[in-house]
Amino acid sequence: MNPQDFFSKKDYKFKLPPHLTDYQKTYDDFNWQEAAKEEISYFDGGKLNAAYNAVDRHLQTDRKNKKALLWEGDKGEKETYTFEELSKWSNKYGNYLKSLGVEKGDRVFLFLPRIPAVYFSFLGILKIGAIAGTLFSAFQEKALLDRLENSGAKVVITTKELLPRLVPLRKDLPELKTVVVVDDPQFLEQIKPVSDQLSVMPMEPTDYAFMLYTSGTTGKPKGIVHTHNAILSQHLTAKYILDIHNEDIYWCTADHGWVTGIAYGILGSLSCGVTSVVYSGRFDAAKWYEILQNYKVTIWYTAPTAIRMLMAGGDELVAKYDLSNLRHLLSVGEPLNPEAIRWGLKVYGLPFHDTWWQTETGSIIIGNYPTMDIKIGVMGKPFMGIHTGIVDDKGVEVPNKTEGNIAMKPGWPSQMAWVWNNDEKYKSYFENGWYISGDRGWKDDEGYFHFVGRADDVIKTSGERVGPFEVESSLIEFPGVVEAGVIGKPDALRGEIIKAFVVLSPELREKAKDEEFVKKLKDDLAMHVKKNLAGHAYPREVDFIDKLPKTRSGKIMRRILKAQEMGEPVGDTSTLEEY
Ligand code: WT7
Repeated sequence: MNPQDFFSKKDYKFKLPPHLTDYQKTYDDFNWQEAAKEEISYFDGGKLNAAYNAVDRHLQTDRKNKKALLWEGDKGEKETYTFEELSKWSNKYGNYLKSLGVEKGDRVFLFLPRIPAVYFSFLGILKIGAIAGTLFSAFQEKALLDRLENSGAKVVITTKELLPRLVPLRKDLPELKTVVVVDDPQFLEQIKPVSDQLSVMPMEPTDYAFMLYTSGTTGKPKGIVHTHNAILSQHLTAKYILDIHNEDIYWCTADHGWVTGIAYGILGSLSCGVTSVVYSGRFDAAKWYEILQNYKVTIWYTAPTAIRMLMAGGDELVAKYDLSNLRHLLSVGEPLNPEAIRWGLKVYGLPFHDTWWQTETGSIIIGNYPTMDIKIGVMGKPFMGIHTGIVDDKGVEVPNKTEGNIAMKPGWPSQMAWVWNNDEKYKSYFENGWYISGDRGWKDDEGYFHFVGRADDVIKTSGERVGPFEVESSLIEFPGVVEAGVIGKPDALRGEIIKAFVVLSPELREKAKDEEFVKKLKDDLAMHVKKNLAGHAYPREVDFIDKLPKTRSGKIMRRILKAQEMGEPVGDTSTLEEY
């Protein structure tokens, strides 16, 4: 390996001694039962509650009055909550939900911007044994309807601003009994007298705690369900990979609408008792540096797209801020470019540590550990207790340095427990005793995992997972669109952008001979998807074509659209209908 592709930790000056000193030894000696006994609080009979572990157990320690949340709103509002206050607020929310008739196993969804009520409600839901679901605040009606309908949500928690997107859906959601509006004066009056005392429901480790909808290649988004036991994986990875110490100030930039925001924005991080910064505003390079500086952030968990946008913000901007408290940087969501690591080293004096995982895995599976040398551009090594390998499509392990599917032996605590109401989909993830991730990669002789790409057509745009089918479905709702095929097109800033190939009706095709009309139509299509599906899932590029490449059975062959777009050979077309 070229020395410039390698970052040695030999002479690295650690500001705090890392929790994990010897990766290999810890990996070899590791045992889930032992780890659980040491790190997680259980009730009688082996029962537990993830929210109790995240918050309430700290009240028995000197963390009771420690700051749990340092919140800043997009208009500069500031609020702080201690662990005790967070416990009491989540108790109030839990009691309030009970008064609405919410019972164990009921689904309660959060459709909220990043405000403290996210914490009160998410934790309150888990405390009473209900299942918390999260919805990204950029979702529009179609995305909301699919998720709320499939999950049979009983309650949705939202704000005045987001409420109008839910109102028209209620007639189609017979199971949705109540919509709680957390900033409505009436609710604020109602919650005031509600007791802040609650006895947390002890749960079986296998009981469901939270769920998230995520996209695959085909069909509607799938409800990935996680158990209370997930807290064990989330806590341990937060400790050993994020390296959270009691004295840290931690900032995870992810939204709770995605799994990172839950596993490392709520559960795993709070379980380690850390003070977390929560910023609700949008990305802005100067503002982000201000947050890092003003809150004296020490651990920062972010995403490659954000890092690339910060790079675009320039080195001079970084120099204006005092970022000397930073000690550990991490990234997740897309391939972390070597360039981004080198830039991080130059401007922050610290390397970004890549981590790889998925909504389905519930916690980090592969990562670069604080004490481990970094092979720049490589994802790192598997977490303890999880046998991770590279297998072929039949689920047989392949030799080192051979490309295959990144796969894990099932059974780690935060492995998804089910796909909501979809046994078939759940089963389809497993092959010959392996969980198949849908990502391709390879392992080198030193046991580091290298990322190659997705095995399917799933798009990653700005780190967010978008299913081509959802976008295609939205596009064909537009009058005059006959068919659409959607791909992820590589993009220097966003990783991928969404590109749509659209077949128009004969009338529109005639009109589309006019350049002005074409320009407007492209804008209208983008706006249609933005308004009906989600703000982040619209096509930034649209091409009009006469016919989509399809298999004889009628499936759109997106890989051919992609190869053509990239000017690459189209590969095997033997299953293609006449084209
Ligand atoms: C997909 C999962 C889990 C947190 C956020 C994403 C891609 C994730 C990496 C990485 C290259 C990565 C994969 C994966 N991905 N981390 N370090 N390097 N690709 O969760 O939305 O479920 O997406 O994100 O393709 O399958 P998600």
